[in-house]
Amino acid sequence: MVDLTVRFANVEFENPVIVASGEATTNFERMKKCVKAGAGGLVTKTVTTIREARRALRPRWAIVDKKGFPEIFTFYSIGVLSQYEPERFAEEVKRAKKELKVPIIVSIMGKEFDEWGYLAKLMDEAGADMIELNLSCPFMPETVKGTGRIIGQDPKLSAEVVKVVREAASIPIIPKLSPEASDLVEIAKSVERAGASAITAINRFMGIEIDIETGKPIIQSAFAGYGGPYLRGIGLRWVAKIVPEVSIPVSGCAGIMNWSHAVEYFMVGATTVQLFTAIVAKGYGVIGEIVEGIKNFMEQHGYENIEAMRGIALKHIFPLSQLPVSSFTLKIDEDKCNGCGLCVRSCLAEAIKIKTAGKKKVVIDDSKCEQCGLCITLCPSGALSIV
Ligand SMILES: Cc1cc2nc3c(=O)[nH]c(=O)nc-3n(C[C@H](O)[C@H](O)[C@H](O)COP(=O)(O)O)c2cc1C
Ligand code: SF4
Ligand code: SF4
Repeated sequence: MVDLTVRFANVEFENPVIVASGEATTNFERMKKCVKAGAGGLVTKTVTTIREARRALRPRWAIVDKKGFPEIFTFYSIGVLSQYEPERFAEEVKRAKKELKVPIIVSIMGKEFDEWGYLAKLMDEAGADMIELNLSCPFMPETVKGTGRIIGQDPKLSAEVVKVVREAASIPIIPKLSPEASDLVEIAKSVERAGASAITAINRFMGIEIDIETGKPIIQSAFAGYGGPYLRGIGLRWVAKIVPEVSIPVSGCAGIMNWSHAVEYFMVGATTVQLFTAIVAKGYGVIGEIVEGIKNFMEQHGYENIEAMRGIALKHIFPLSQLPVSSFTLKIDEDKCNGCGLCVRSCLAEAIKIKTAGKKKVVIDDSKCEQCGLCITLCPSGALSIV
């Protein structure tokens, strides 16, 4: 029997799969759906004192690059924070605390320092188990100068917000970091020193897509939050970098579309994971599928609990300068090769050629092969390997 429970900043979660801040946790009814689907915890949609950030443009969401949907795509959104006034949202939190048996993490964002303190106190009193600080919303600086990711890009400002919230509330505080900062390790260390109890890494980037027929940005004339499955590698990178440098736990977030992605986050050191886009792409049911998938994987591999696999990949990550330069020869399995020519087209060294005569479909010229390894991962039939 595997044990999926985790202690995250001294709060116990029945399983480590948390729904990230977003529209899936925008009110009690949606929070309930997440819990019913198997979520171990919830981060609410960010509640704010900033009136302008509650203005919801219509339309505001789009799926772009959708050929691979629901596995591979970009989720494009013009932002808005919770449309509830904070005092009204506190009622949703109270109800959630009364009826849902999972930790409720309330995400907050203020403009001035005292607003951060006010929101933290309000949500602490409403019964929140933890507070997540949205220091990372990609589009907030476009709405109100100096907010959102602008704070999360500055280690001192981030620490100041943590200190203010620390004073105002007694529950654990989790700053959520922005990938737009140049060094998230520095930010993580700074918020830890200021009293943060844990860290969420990461939020999304800001981007834009242009409709070439009209020459205008798609959906609205503004920059957008730009995320999706592609973010996973970036989230994993920052979790892997932050975990060895701090002693507080990290919640890994971004690009998790299935259980194996969540396992990757544990293996680079995350204690819990958060996801939102997967719910938009696959429905609430994906939460339970991910929990079940993690459990099955752990059973099959003999991991008794999350801690047993947490961080196991870290000892295999080195600075590039420490990696040895070795060499290999490419081998082709002629029975597997279907002659599709993908490897021929992509080999910039022109080391693979299609052969029309004889049994062989392609031949490799070892003298030209630069051993980049690309064709091995590209081949759809697994015909190429290293000797
Ligand atoms: C439409 C949308 C709304 C979001 N709203 C919030 C928010 O209110 N507060 C916040 O901290 N993050 C917000 N996020 C960011 C997510 O919580 C999460 O960090 C990000 O999307 C990466 O995780 P994912 O790939 O699992 O979605 C939002 C993301 C999207 C796509
Ligand atoms: S390893 Fe790189 S250089 Fe060698 S054949 Fe494959 S793609 Fe070409
Ligand atoms: S990509 Fe693979 S299957 Fe296609 S030609 Fe090359 S070796 Fe053969």
